[in-house]
Amino acid sequence: MLNRMLFAAGVSLFVSSVLALPPGEGEALVREHCSSCHQPEILNRAQGYDTTAEWRQLMASMVELDEPRADIIARYLAQHFKSKPELYPALVPGPVEIEIDEWMVPTLGQRSRDPIEASDGAIWWTGMWASLVGRLDPLTDDVREYPLPPMARPHSIVPDDAGFIWYLGNGNGTVGKLNPLTGEIREYETGLADPHTGVFHPNGAFYFTAQRAGAVARLDPASGHITHRETLARPYGIKVAPNGRIYIAFNGDNAIGEMDPETLEITYFTIPHEESRIRRLDVASDGSIWYVNSARGRIGHLDPTTGVVREWDSPSGPQSHPYAIAVIDDVVWYNESGQRPDALVRFDPESETFQSWAIPSGIGIIRHVWVTRNKELLIHQSSSNRIGRVTILDSGSGTENRDIPIDTSGQ
Ligand code: HEC
Repeated sequence: MLNRMLFAAGVSLFVSSVLALPPGEGEALVREHCSSCHQPEILNRAQGYDTTAEWRQLMASMVELDEPRADIIARYLAQHFKSKPELYPALVPGPVEIEIDEWMVPTLGQRSRDPIEASDGAIWWTGMWASLVGRLDPLTDDVREYPLPPMARPHSIVPDDAGFIWYLGNGNGTVGKLNPLTGEIREYETGLADPHTGVFHPNGAFYFTAQRAGAVARLDPASGHITHRETLARPYGIKVAPNGRIYIAFNGDNAIGEMDPETLEITYFTIPHEESRIRRLDVASDGSIWYVNSARGRIGHLDPTTGVVREWDSPSGPQSHPYAIAVIDDVVWYNESGQRPDALVRFDPESETFQSWAIPSGIGIIRHVWVTRNKELLIHQSSSNRIGRVTILDSGSGTENRDIPIDTSGQ
């Protein structure tokens, strides 16, 4: 598995420029053990730690090391890569209570991401760099990882109603369908470089973005037929509104698109400020759009019937890089991925107030979230190799989501 993973990971990430690491006993060991999945340069951009214990904890989510080596590397890192208070989020206290559960996934350093809930209540995620998808039963903590073709490097997954898991093969231009009972995979060649994020429509078709290819596509699961249409730069998040219209976020332009599911024709809404970039969005019950303005550290609201846009500064400011977003009962949840720890933020549109929390495992990025049938939020941390679940215990207005029974039938 390790070789396969290094192969899958190394292709696009291992560039030849080399960081001048501070000299020391740990330098050679860092080069040896910390360069296969990413350059050691990541150390400069990341949060650091002042203690060896914290470094040990992070390293243990990425790579297995024997005791003397782990100790030498951790001491070297704690000496040269200390904590950066400027990356701490500006956490906002508030009345809402939540509980965050996190699970470390088995294959280390897999870049766990994009968890979803399947119809049997299981949580699935993708391990992009290890080219796998995994299944967790949150009731028993049983986990199983399913290998995908080594170059598939799945970006996102979506369950269908029949229990199949569909993945976006970001590395090999495919969409794949996994049968969880047999592990069997059917691949669909998309003709697009990098399938990214997908969504099922009530009409039965699967719609997805391809970011670098600059296209959106529709796959008909019955025939396997795929059609696509070119778009503005870097189509990213994609969601279906209650009226069946499809909304697309653009990470390469200051725009949000509204797509006709039949013709794939897109009407574009311009978001103010040329430097605005929108990774993801979600739809409120009235069909209006909430989005993250990742480039400007803001969140925004678009009324697609009028084109009117409003934005709010995220608590941690212009560099906070809001990333994943979901609307639960018309309240907005998103994360500040530029901060360490990554912060989960709640925005109440009624009172226009924020509240935020640090993600416990503390390091990484939530790149995509999913709302379960019980209105929990599934999250992840791609550095600390975790997937997680946020339970909203008390919305601050006295209503609780806890006592909705979980359907565990149909295992
Ligand atoms: C098997 C793959 C793998 C190996 C080996 C590996 N890492 Fe990582 N590392 C990851 C992944 C995956 C991420 C998340 C990257 C992303 O989200 O783009 C990451 C991110 C990081 C970050 C950034 C944390 C953040 O989000 O702020 C640091 C620091 C880091 N690694 C340090 C190390 C060190 C030190 C070693 C060697 C002891 C190491 N890594 C070895 C997979 C690996």
